[in-house]
Amino acid sequence: MNWLSPSILAADFNRLGEQIKIVRACGAHALHFDVMDGLFVPSISFGMPVLASIRKETDMFLDVHLMIREPVRYVKEFKESGADLVTIHFEACSDVAGTLRAFRAAGVKVGMSIRPETPVSVLRPYVKMLDLVLIMSVNPGFGGQEFMEGTYDKLREVRELYAEVFGSERGEGVPRLEVDGGINLANVAKVLAAGADTIVAGSAVFRGDIAANTQKFLTILSDEEK
Ligand code: DX5
Ligand code: ZN
Repeated sequence: MNWLSPSILAADFNRLGEQIKIVRACGAHALHFDVMDGLFVPSISFGMPVLASIRKETDMFLDVHLMIREPVRYVKEFKESGADLVTIHFEACSDVAGTLRAFRAAGVKVGMSIRPETPVSVLRPYVKMLDLVLIMSVNPGFGGQEFMEGTYDKLREVRELYAEVFGSERGEGVPRLEVDGGINLANVAKVLAAGADTIVAGSAVFRGDIAANTQKFLTILSDEEK
């Protein structure tokens, strides 16, 4: 099933609770929560206290994208703050497998992300440990950037890797394939056709009419269901 995971980085933080209720009421499946540390990426966003406060108010699946160096330092904190799934960056960990194991042992689902310049081949040793692969379609660090066209080929490559490793591109035990950065109503169908099943969108959901934007995304997601 295709999922929409609106990125609250683009929300109005003065009205965050209200805006989360709008995407939830429209049927968004998850909420994408971008944590930035000013080291792995140039910017700083928000962290555990904000996540915990959202967790108290919503039953949505909390999809936490950690753009931080050595995320293994914060396993307990993200678990206790209510993350359902934590995605780490391959480039940010000195011990990738150990980091994945530590989150999983804490009872959190795990994803792994790669930056646009990192090849899909680095995923191979880890793919059986993952609930999700996140392909970045912009350089991580900021919302509102333009989608990088090279992403389509990378999504197809991940599905090929799944077919080799799992004997099937989709289904039970096969990680979700998420894509993040610059996705809008004009390119989302092509992103789904290339193999993504989990769509992150920040600006294209939260700028303008949030309910109308969410509904339009969800219509395309269900029309393009594989
Ligand atoms: C970028 C973040 C994204 C960002 C997407 O580093 O990981 O999740 O919020 O924003 P848009 O959809 O505006 O590109
Ligand atoms: Zn993100």
